Amino acid sequence: MVDDSTATVAHSLRAWVATASPGSRLPSNRELVARFGVSPVTVQKAFRRLTAGGLIESRPGVGTFVRSRPAVRPADYGWQTAALRAPHTRPPAVSAPMRSADPEAIALHSGYPARDLLPERLLRNAFARVGRSEAGWTRSSVAGDPDLRSWFAGELAAVTAAGTTPPAARDVVVLPGTQSGLSSVFRALVGSGHPVLVESPTYWGALLAAAQAGVDVVPVRGGPDGPDPADLARAFTETGARAFYAQPAFANPTGARWSAERADQVLDVVRAHDAFLVEDDWAHDFAVEGEVSPVAARDDAGHVVYLRSLTKSVSPAVRVGALVARGPARERILTDRLAESVYVSAFLQAVALEVVTAPGWRTHLRTMRGNLRARRDLMVEELDRRVPSAHLALVPAGGLNLWARLPEGTDVQRLVRECEHEGVVVAAGDEWFPAEPSGPFVRVNYSGPEPERFGEGLAILGRVLARQEG
Ligand SMILES: Cc1ncc(COP(=O)(O)O)c(C=O)c1O
Repeated sequence: MVDDSTATVAHSLRAWVATASPGSRLPSNRELVARFGVSPVTVQKAFRRLTAGGLIESRPGVGTFVRSRPAVRPADYGWQTAALRAPHTRPPAVSAPMRSADPEAIALHSGYPARDLLPERLLRNAFARVGRSEAGWTRSSVAGDPDLRSWFAGELAAVTAAGTTPPAARDVVVLPGTQSGLSSVFRALVGSGHPVLVESPTYWGALLAAAQAGVDVVPVRGGPDGPDPADLARAFTETGARAFYAQPAFANPTGARWSAERADQVLDVVRAHDAFLVEDDWAHDFAVEGEVSPVAARDDAGHVVYLRSLTKSVSPAVRVGALVARGPARERILTDRLAESVYVSAFLQAVALEVVTAPGWRTHLRTMRGNLRARRDLMVEELDRRVPSAHLALVPAGGLNLWARLPEGTDVQRLVRECEHEGVVVAAGDEWFPAEPSGPFVRVNYSGPEPERFGEGLAILGRVLARQEG
């Protein structure tokens, strides 16, 4: 686990060294022990970190000194501009949900739940147990740990419709996060230059993965109940696409959820076109009303490729997910995984398995969902009160986000910049659109830290918006 006091001392010393002249002598170990109220071992550990980073050097019997910095020549990378040529697409360097905000800011942009929503006690126990056992210290197979694969298969099998053959462990491929699974699916099942249908708006990471794989994205209009099956059928016919990427439960960003009837209709369209439905079940654990019933549980003919992430519910530090696919599609994907990453850390797989099979996991999920519901309700209420001109098409029954439409003519990029300047970070909706945005939207995440500051943050958004409108 992280030794916070070492990190704190190292951080302060780094700041000090940055302003000190080369050759300056650092305070003695004894002085630093007194100043930071830590043990001599902690100070020594911090010194070792700075020494390893080439910032300081110790002269035995004399003291510890700031190292002289090598002369820095201005770099010239101009040759790379010609060597790399223009990129096919120009996605943002770091997508808004992945940005690190100023620690003082009210962060409503991030896609990851705050620490108090994570199973911290279960995680600490799992890390300790795996550390003591043999399970985590070996090399994994390409498809992943058999027990973890059984767990993923079992979860889906438990809700598989009667008369449908449930998935087995052999159908599961463990992933280092489902993002890389999306890339594999686009490369292995769609292929460069071929089309994939997506709802609009849709997850920015799927758009990025498609762009990197050279896949042509074809938008299909989304709605609070999912896509219109007739629109989808038309898009399959017109483009010859063989895959449709979608999030049937609590879509990021809109929160849309397909009914059982819509799931059947979509599946019928997919079957009729001999195509795949790439079902991204990213928010499986974040249902706050009812349970998620994956579309994959209605299919045993290999039409649905199912992606299930544990990153956000177990821990962003235990980045493990899985993919369930049947038939030759699974073999193609497995070959891509081999080329991409060979295998997933056995240690992290073992930790994930410990957590989701711990007796406290179900209780944790219940408590976490209750907290999430309270956060969602609070944010809906505050949005309504503080940003009255924002419109929510839907109060999502799960997931982590609200998707708000702003008045026509709002300059969303300017709004987001000005909000950040005033201390609140929200995500501009533009990134979730595969083509031009259909309107001005922002996404606000209700799973971040400090829900008591939601009102303050949204009040800033409301003020900045009112300035634009006025
Ligand atoms: C809709 C959606 N799909 C997939 C992912 C990727 O998740 P991971 O790679 O952490 O499993 C995310 C992460 O933000 C997401 O929002």
